[in-house]
Amino acid sequence: MRTSWKITVLGLATVAVAGIVRHDTQGTQASSLKADSILARYWEPLDPQGPPPDHWTDIEASLLPDACASCHPDQFAAWQTSFHAKAFSPGLVGQLLGYDSGDVAACMRCHAALAEQRNHFEWARVQGKGHVREAQGLAAWGNSCGGCHFRERQCFGPPQRDTGVTGPGSSDAPHGGVHRSAFFESAEFCSGCHQFDSSLAVNGKPLENTYVEWQATAFAAAGVTCQGCHMPDRQHLWRGIHDPEMVKSGLVARFDASPDRARFELTSTGIGHAFPTYVTPKAVMRGVALDRTGLPEAGSVVSYVIQRVVEHIDGEWVERSDSRLLPGETARLEMDWPESGRVKMWLEVHPDDFYDHSVYDVLLQQLADGPAAELIAEADRQAEASRFNLFETEVTRP
Ligand code: HEC
Ligand code: HEC
Ligand code: HEC
Ligand code: HEC
Ligand code: HEC
Repeated sequence: MRTSWKITVLGLATVAVAGIVRHDTQGTQASSLKADSILARYWEPLDPQGPPPDHWTDIEASLLPDACASCHPDQFAAWQTSFHAKAFSPGLVGQLLGYDSGDVAACMRCHAALAEQRNHFEWARVQGKGHVREAQGLAAWGNSCGGCHFRERQCFGPPQRDTGVTGPGSSDAPHGGVHRSAFFESAEFCSGCHQFDSSLAVNGKPLENTYVEWQATAFAAAGVTCQGCHMPDRQHLWRGIHDPEMVKSGLVARFDASPDRARFELTSTGIGHAFPTYVTPKAVMRGVALDRTGLPEAGSVVSYVIQRVVEHIDGEWVERSDSRLLPGETARLEMDWPESGRVKMWLEVHPDDFYDHSVYDVLLQQLADGPAAELIAEADRQAEASRFNLFETEVTRP
């Protein structure tokens, strides 16, 4: 399963960003033409940036996020709390250690995109230190500032905040200014890593299909992009399924007590794709009968699972079921009253269910003791610990 899982994921590496729409106002100079051609292939595998211009200071030339932080502290502080900063994770590196360099490059395209990050990791691996964070250097920073903003030593960013100006900026500014483009405000920017190619569809839907899901929503029609929900006011937060407040913000829970039954209804109201969008998380609506003293009664738990369940069988992915909620859809859980007339109901969220119960368990069986197995064991513990409960409510018979 390990190899096939890998090959399927690697297929994603060929995903190209299609149909980029740009509205740059200036576009005559040669530098602008070059920038346009870079924007058109923004998420294709990256080449090294090349040497910095002679007059750049060391801090302008550095690709380390903590160098960017000296002039952009707010973005750095927010980014550090996000999963993009954690993308060179134990679960990834534990697998990369055993891959050939082509496969490593394919995975790192989304997890640590800069060519310099790839080269640094390969160097550490040759030294036998691929698993040591300090030795990984730039790679350890994961989905880094430079990977999203720098190409061929040119800085790219969104239209200027107050003026909306796009196109090339002043080359006298630090790091030669910035080429501003509406591409950064578009969902296509995110689709470079959050949408698999349609050729990888399983029952009509690729395993990561977030951009296509979003396109079909009323949010897309109203111009609410990924950034609108995940980067409010351009903050580099990227909260998602691992963040209880973010998950809560997208759902409405209703509890209803009628004489015959207790009901729990969950509606997706503020999520711009399926809930959850990936095959990796699982959400479970649960109810349990309470006795007269308020203690749960053994064996009384009822559940409704919200998840796209896939399995890898004989070299093929198969979809077992898909109960995820599209925007506006509602899931329901009902319970008969116990004698006490008291039940407790809640939503359980397992952000890393598939990794926890499929990927890491299989890897741990296959890997011999050593650094890779230790990293996967750490990832397994993190995956297990990421679960949380929401909306816990006691409902009583009227
Ligand atoms: C020495 C200070 C300095 C460093 C270091 C620096 N920047 Fe900048 N950056 C600036 C300034 C000043 C601007 C505004 C340039 C302009 O308006 O032409 C800017 C603009 C930007 C913009 C455009 C957003 C805006 O405010 O208009 C982005 C994106 C950006 N930088 C990213 C980065 C990244 C990523 C790094 C690290 C790899 C970095 N910068 C390092 C000073 C710096
Ligand atoms: C996953 C890609 C990604 C990463 C990683 C990333 N950025 Fe950005 N950044 C963006 C996007 C997209 C925007 C524009 C958001 C919008 O317009 O809503 C942006 C905007 C900015 C801006 C302009 C902010 C403004 O208010 O106008 C700066 C400055 C910036 N980023 C710096 C950084 C720095 C520094 C880091 C690392 C600490 C970083 N970015 C990491 C994607 C990224
Ligand atoms: C260079 C590839 C890349 C780009 C571009 C990118 N992402 Fe990500 N994103 C990732 C990876 C890889 C992860 C998983 C990180 C991890 O946990 O290892 C991730 C994680 C996330 C998460 C966290 C989900 C959770 O598990 O809680 C959110 C939300 C997210 N991205 C939104 C966005 C948005 C919005 C954009 C566009 C502005 C974007 N990403 C652009 C690669 C990317
Ligand atoms: C097209 C972009 C893309 C490619 C290529 C890619 N990933 Fe990911 N990866 C993601 C995103 C997005 C997430 C977060 C969503 C999820 O969990 O499915 C993620 C999550 C993960 C996670 C769980 C979170 C973490 O970091 O611990 C692991 C492990 C992982 N990927 C390993 C790999 C491996 C190994 C490869 C290469 C075989 C690979 N990925 C290739 C985009 C990508
Ligand atoms: C209307 C707001 C909204 C829009 C638009 C939106 N999201 Fe989300 N997204 C959410 C909320 C809320 C969550 C948390 C619940 C969940 O996990 O589905 C989330 C979760 C996620 C996750 C976590 C993984 C998972 O399985 O759910 C990723 C990754 C993500 N979004 C990426 C994107 C990308 C990429 C786009 C654009 C193509 C986008 N989102 C558009 C609100 C939004």
